[in-house]
Amino acid sequence: MFKIGKIEIKDYPVLLAPMEDVSDPPFRFLCKKFGADIMYTEFISSEGLIRDAFKSVKKLDFIEEERPIGIQIFGHNIESMIEATKYAEQSNPDLIDINFGCSVRKVVSKGAGAGILNDIPKMVKMTAEVVKSTKLPVTVKTRLGYDNNHKQIVEIAERLQDVGIQALTIHGRTRTNSYKDKSDWTLIGEVKNNSRMIIPIIGNGDITCPEKAMEMKNKYNVDGIMIGRESVGNPWIFREVKHYLNTGELLPHPNISERIETCKIHLQKSIDWKGERTGILEMRKHYSKYFKGYKYFKRFKLKLMDKENAGELYKIFGEILKEYS
Ligand SMILES: Cc1cc2nc3c(=O)[nH]c(=O)nc-3n(C[C@H](O)[C@H](O)[C@H](O)COP(=O)(O)O)c2cc1C
Repeated sequence: MFKIGKIEIKDYPVLLAPMEDVSDPPFRFLCKKFGADIMYTEFISSEGLIRDAFKSVKKLDFIEEERPIGIQIFGHNIESMIEATKYAEQSNPDLIDINFGCSVRKVVSKGAGAGILNDIPKMVKMTAEVVKSTKLPVTVKTRLGYDNNHKQIVEIAERLQDVGIQALTIHGRTRTNSYKDKSDWTLIGEVKNNSRMIIPIIGNGDITCPEKAMEMKNKYNVDGIMIGRESVGNPWIFREVKHYLNTGELLPHPNISERIETCKIHLQKSIDWKGERTGILEMRKHYSKYFKGYKYFKRFKLKLMDKENAGELYKIFGEILKEYS
């Protein structure tokens, strides 16, 4: 059975990846509903947290039904990471995850996120200090290495395990790879099959369908699969992957009425959590994803983008249902 501290997952675990501006409570609600086994907050700046910055503190929000949930933090300063861990612990999540994978320039240039892959001793020390500063299990999410000449994940994994992390998620790219480069799982497999490793290893990168999840699980023997981009506008991916892993059968994709129902829940949860105006504005980035592949959807998208009132949006959902049923 898959275990991280007290978290036990009976099925083969399929996790929702942390995604800034995406994996917020409204979106997580849906991923959980459709089967995500473990979820994470968006990454939270340690500096922002300890300064009590509104945006960072708001990202700590979650509801009980989301458990097991991890709060993900990032930063370049070890003291701040310790403080932020203590701060995050007060929200009582199930685990603390350290982000050593973010490749955004403004994060990396400070030596945070994947930037720390340039300084592995500091990465190990920061992890050790975070582990010491909390009673919660600490996990890490990182990449294969800084660049293609420094794919040190096998050594990194051993060293992070030695200082006490309880699971490791590996995204099969380096910091300098772009999403155009295919995710490389071979080193994820090497970490998993290293006889020194005892903690769960979760594989991440380019899982787009149930068959791919099954292939990676079988080929690389990882303890869990994490899905990011494919879940956007497609939270049903968790249901489909889990069903396929359990039965070998492919479920049909959701029909138009389920898509609309899900979209409505997402909109309502966004409004509840962010307020009507922001909730409606932030939903706009999701519409084309929910209705990907529907012919001539653009005219409805334009209408959805134009409205600032939930009632009017509901009317358009009705029109969409009529058109595509
Ligand atoms: C919009 C977006 C935001 C992301 N934000 C985070 C983040 O906050 N923390 C993190 O560890 N990774 C973040 N990632 C990386 C994903 O968690 C994941 O590792 C990556 O997208 C590869 O998985 P996928 O191919 O399933 O998308 C983000 C990715 C995207 C596309």
